Amino acid sequence: MAGLYVHIPFCHRKCPYCDFFSIASTDLLLETYPSLLIKHLNWASSHKQSGPFETIYFGGGTPSLLPPESIADILQVVQQAFGITHNAEITFEANPGTVSEQSLAGYRQAGINRLSLGLQTCNDKHLATLGRLHNQKEGLDAFSRARDVGFDNISLDLMFALPAQTTAEFEEDLHSFLELSPEHLSCYGLTAEPETPFHRKVKSGEMTLPDEDFYADTFMLVHKRLSEVGYEHYEIANYALKGRACRHNLGYWQRQSFLGIGPGAHSFCARHWGSRSAVPPDLAAYQHALVNAKEPTQHLEVFDQESALRETIYLALRTRNGISDSELQQRFGCTLQEAFPKAVEASAPWLIYNNGRWTLTPAGWLIFDRLILPFL
Ligand SMILES: C[S@@+](CC[C@H](N)C(=O)[O-])C[C@H]1O[C@@H](n2cnc3c(N)ncnc32)[C@H](O)[C@@H]1O
Ligand code: SF4
Repeated sequence: MAGLYVHIPFCHRKCPYCDFFSIASTDLLLETYPSLLIKHLNWASSHKQSGPFETIYFGGGTPSLLPPESIADILQVVQQAFGITHNAEITFEANPGTVSEQSLAGYRQAGINRLSLGLQTCNDKHLATLGRLHNQKEGLDAFSRARDVGFDNISLDLMFALPAQTTAEFEEDLHSFLELSPEHLSCYGLTAEPETPFHRKVKSGEMTLPDEDFYADTFMLVHKRLSEVGYEHYEIANYALKGRACRHNLGYWQRQSFLGIGPGAHSFCARHWGSRSAVPPDLAAYQHALVNAKEPTQHLEVFDQESALRETIYLALRTRNGISDSELQQRFGCTLQEAFPKAVEASAPWLIYNNGRWTLTPAGWLIFDRLILPFL
């Protein structure tokens, strides 16, 4: 197993745009949840899942609602049951509205060496629209505290195409984010996810999201500005300084094995053509399964050669590295052109072939969902 994903399905309150699996936290849930994760880890190690892990990712929900002591306990069990490589990347998602200097120092001491901070925007008006817990000052303070306690690998989430956002406001945001010199940025255009309050408001006309042109222009603006100052646009939504790409997420896009624990978490086993499983997003069912020593995961999909080829292309074309014909030949016995002649033709001029390798241009990434369809 290359990676471990730990899902923390709690948030202080739900942001109105977000459809990640999380529920409102209570003290009792936060106290008891780590012991469930530990049961799951022990269950997985006794069912032939093996380590050591090269990357660990605490995602959510809001991992920073758990106290550092719980994170230290979980990592200790991971170390005992699976092993953690000496240079492992251990990422932790934190909501700026839930951290203090003391808690950040505790996470660092527990072994977290990469922090992903949900800053989103530095504009108080937009932070309020997004229903965030923090204002601009608290967001910037959280970043400074993280640096103060020794985090030297920080990623910031930056959202764009917010309701009524102007280009000038977004440019100010970019400026404020870059002043912090984070090692990594994840830049997401706001989408109105089905079943969220934002989706209902957009449907009813109560809220308007910026149009496609604003979205496209802002996506390309981010690409241009961040590239100019040394960030590599290494995946549709992700930018990193040299050597700071998220190793855990690269593992997903390269179809490496990972184990996911916690309700809502997915796992992938790369053996044969690959298989996926998931823990259903249901905390009560998760607890019931683990307390009764039953399997908490459900098997989702076993890949054959053709579905593995399609997924390999889908994931690889999201990344700057793309996919080489020699890798495809070696794994699947064909080149991209041989496997998908019509899709390759339809993807011009966004699909580029250079030195034996296929990649999409940033403008191609902008319309990824449309371009990738003929490959699926
Ligand atoms: C699990 S959260 C990050 C950690 C923490 N829960 C927080 O919000 O600070 C993952 C990120 O996905 C992005 N996100 C969530 N819903 C989104 C949406 N509907 N549109 C665009 N980005 C979204 C936000 O940038 C968010 O920080
Ligand atoms: S964006 Fe983060 S804090 Fe907000 S609901 Fe989603 S996971 Fe929770």
